Amino acid sequence: MQENIIPHQFLVSKKQRTQLNNHGSFLIWFTGLSGSGKSTIANALEKELYEMRISTYLLDGDNIRKGLNSDLSFSPADRKENIRRIAEVANLMVESGLVVLSAFISPYKNDREFVKLTVKKENFIQIFIDTPLKVCKSRDPKGLYIKAEKGLIKNFTGISAPYETPKNPDLKIDTTKTDVAEAVKLIIQKIKPKLEFI
Ligand code: ADX
Repeated sequence: MQENIIPHQFLVSKKQRTQLNNHGSFLIWFTGLSGSGKSTIANALEKELYEMRISTYLLDGDNIRKGLNSDLSFSPADRKENIRRIAEVANLMVESGLVVLSAFISPYKNDREFVKLTVKKENFIQIFIDTPLKVCKSRDPKGLYIKAEKGLIKNFTGISAPYETPKNPDLKIDTTKTDVAEAVKLIIQKIKPKLEFI
């Protein structure tokens, strides 16, 4: 099948789209346990970028799993497919000239590597929200850890499914030491060169 698919060459390039927006486009990938603070920080960052007149879009696990990926479970194969689809969607959005933010547990190193390859390493920033499991459990904002510990949720990350810690993230944030506002500042500092590259 694939050999009969010939991609079309577009007349408008990514460079032209970023010039129109007047900022670079790339993907900011948040990874970390459920309840670690990925969505909270990504949301606050998107708001700050909006104030800076940066065109963004935020892809979030809980939202995407209600729509595009509502057919997927939390088995290793389905998590891989979840991240594969997000990588492709994020790549299209980066091509469109947006700064894309994403908040997925993405527990497997290979899946995160796939994202990096898909969007290309120069368009990829990985942020590890390194909140200790015991803190995530005590926050338990959605009451899921308690259910998982009772055996009511299968394959729950940190309880009955693994989380492979990123070895060399671009930034590591421990939310027990860094508050949301500080985290946003650190990330803005980190992405500045990419925002300015048009
Ligand atoms: S991922 O592992 O495939 O990247 P994703 O980020 O899309 O996960 O979804 C995680 C969210 O789904 C969690 O924040 C939590 O609210 C919910 N969830 C439901 N079941 C599970 C489970 N078994 N493991 C982890 N998260 C779960």
